[in-house]
Amino acid sequence: MRVVNVGLIGAGTVGCGVIKILNQNKEIIESRTGISLNLTKIADSDLNRKRPVKLPKRKVTKDARDLIKDNSIDIVIELVGGTTIAKDFVLESIKNGKHVVTANKALLAHHGKAIFAEAAKKGVEVGFEASVGGGIPIIKATQESYAANNILSIHGIMNGTSNYILSTMTEHGYEFEDVLKEAQEKGYAEADPSFDIDGVDAAHKLSILIMLSFGTFLNFDKIPVEGIRNITSLDIAYADELGYQIKLLAIAKSREDGLEAGVYPTLVKKGTQLADVSGAFNAIYVVGDAVGPTMLYGMGAGMMPTASAVVGDVIQIAKHLALENTHLTTPSPYGNKINSSLIKTSEITTKYYLRFQTADIPGILGKITSSLGKHNISIESVIQKSRHLGGGDVPIVIMTHEAKEKNLLSALKEISKFKAITGKTNFIRIEEL
Ligand code: HSE
Repeated sequence: MRVVNVGLIGAGTVGCGVIKILNQNKEIIESRTGISLNLTKIADSDLNRKRPVKLPKRKVTKDARDLIKDNSIDIVIELVGGTTIAKDFVLESIKNGKHVVTANKALLAHHGKAIFAEAAKKGVEVGFEASVGGGIPIIKATQESYAANNILSIHGIMNGTSNYILSTMTEHGYEFEDVLKEAQEKGYAEADPSFDIDGVDAAHKLSILIMLSFGTFLNFDKIPVEGIRNITSLDIAYADELGYQIKLLAIAKSREDGLEAGVYPTLVKKGTQLADVSGAFNAIYVVGDAVGPTMLYGMGAGMMPTASAVVGDVIQIAKHLALENTHLTTPSPYGNKINSSLIKTSEITTKYYLRFQTADIPGILGKITSSLGKHNISIESVIQKSRHLGGGDVPIVIMTHEAKEKNLLSALKEISKFKAITGKTNFIRIEEL
């Protein structure tokens, strides 16, 4: 049987999942592929911490270079995370002629262009299925199954932690801060949890899907990103009353004049597929010009789902090695066909949910609506109830028809100067899917 040697850098949660799968599913992998995956070395800077699997002593090392430089290793799995040392490990492995499998979305979002260029130069593969949507096969789908399509749009719930927080707030009426701790305890969160709740992790993943779907390496810092810190249980209750749920969506839409892209909390209609994705689950809704709407759903985080995607990539590369056929997974841009310049958020047109905090005085609703009207924003519905916010303040909730964001921002600037406005206005975009 053909033997393919694999080295693993990073024996953390996902790394341990990889070790577990390679042990427990050895037979099924061998019978499906005719290949034996031989995990020959495992590198981790901390060999003493408690782990769900035992690391075989004769295989472990503290020095990742022991395996990067080992000529017998065919595939290096990088599960260190981050964009500093992980970048060195990946580039050094490629330079040493090794195929690489990584789950590192931050690394690819920031340095994907350089990594794929180096891989193409050396004729090696880079597998990155686990970088987006954990165990969901969205990378393979985008590279292969959707390859006949012009991708029209992507709407993804791609951060399990923030989806867990929003779902729990919706279900129990809790406030954001109370749920965050629980999500961290469940082990879904990034090392820096602000990446989860401020939308950065979802934006890393979005930039990878944009690279594959629209053939462009966006400058990551240019992607507009908003998180869920400002979402209150009050907004969730009003959204519910209006027939919506609040989700943190990563969105990319192809337009003639460019690419609309961003990560932000969004109202989605209850009963639609994305609205029903709850807990730490992820879902990616992709529309192609030939295939129409599709949705992939599954666990976007966690030890075994993410390890499943990592080992899937290792198997795919091992199969190519066995066939002596290097099948480059390097994304190839579409050339000039697609206009992928990023459209400014101020230029997008959508419907909005607005919540004003005002003093309970006569005439304030009229003043707000006339300012919106003056800026060409028409109103779909208004809710004003005596739900007191404390200090005699009341919320006014308005749903708009489609409006240009720059007009909305001008109106909100004008309204914020009214004496009766006593707090920051919360505005949330609405996506009709
Ligand atoms: N922190 C990420 C999440 C893990 O919550 O979805 C997977 O990237």
